[in-house]
Amino acid sequence: MAIIIAIANQKGGVGKTTTAVNLVAALAAAEKKVLLVDCDPQGNATTGYGVDKAARQKTVYDLLIGNCGLHEALKEPFPPYLYLVPSTPHLSGAEIELVTMQRREYRLREAIRDHVEEYDYVILDCPPSLGLITLNTLVAADRVLVPLQCEFYAMEGLSQLANTIGLAQKKLNKSLQWEGIVLTMYDGRTNLSTQVEEEVRNHFGDKVYQTRIPRNVRVSEAPSFGKPVLWYDAHCRGSTAYYALANEMITRHENEKVQE
Ligand SMILES: Nc1ncnc2c1ncn2[C@@H]1O[C@H](COP(=O)(O)OP(=O)(O)O)[C@@H](O)[C@H]1O
Ligand SMILES: [Mg+2]
Repeated sequence: MAIIIAIANQKGGVGKTTTAVNLVAALAAAEKKVLLVDCDPQGNATTGYGVDKAARQKTVYDLLIGNCGLHEALKEPFPPYLYLVPSTPHLSGAEIELVTMQRREYRLREAIRDHVEEYDYVILDCPPSLGLITLNTLVAADRVLVPLQCEFYAMEGLSQLANTIGLAQKKLNKSLQWEGIVLTMYDGRTNLSTQVEEEVRNHFGDKVYQTRIPRNVRVSEAPSFGKPVLWYDAHCRGSTAYYALANEMITRHENEKVQE
């Protein structure tokens, strides 16, 4: 059974998509079979894998509305390890269309449910909001991974997100857990980064991943080539960090299994 992880934070620009795209590439490099579902109408994860507009016939929008099944929407950036469900701006309409639909929070869960045994990991890249699409991901997911940019208001945003996750747990998905928090765009030379890190680690303990993602130009360049940074420059600091993040994740999950 796949572990389904929503990558969520209602703030934009904190590294959700970058983490989704590169974590997935690193998991695939470790020979895990992964599915990346782009749940953001901006479609940055889709573009990040070089899927151009013309190739986005069936998307996560069709999945949510019930127009198609998972296999019809799949793209194959790196078979047999890495698969992708693309997104388009159409998806923003789903926020409204879903409101009147039955079981509106369960649409994504029901669309992927029958296929989760085909993967080791399913990664859901969330939009920067706490609307119905994000709720769908929190209902579909087993866990939530929160990318946190080391900036002044980081902790405030986190408590709002923690509330939403708590609500989703209580009302919609009892088995939802925290996967953890990953510090993004980290710069150890600035006091702000180290202060935020200290505060987050004090507050959230071992929920915070040891691996920090550094701010790295190669990471921000890679999407314009339609590639994760690991394929663009495998040895830069950004790539090294995302390999480490994937390995830390795999090790955590293996240790959990041993303890069960
Ligand atoms: N580690 C990093 N180093 C440099 N730039 C980064 C890094 N992570 C993200 N970025 C850049 O920051 C911007 C926002 O990142 P993104 O992943 O799109 O955030 P979100 O999905 O949360 O809105 C993008 O331009 C991205 O290239
Ligand atoms: Mg994004």
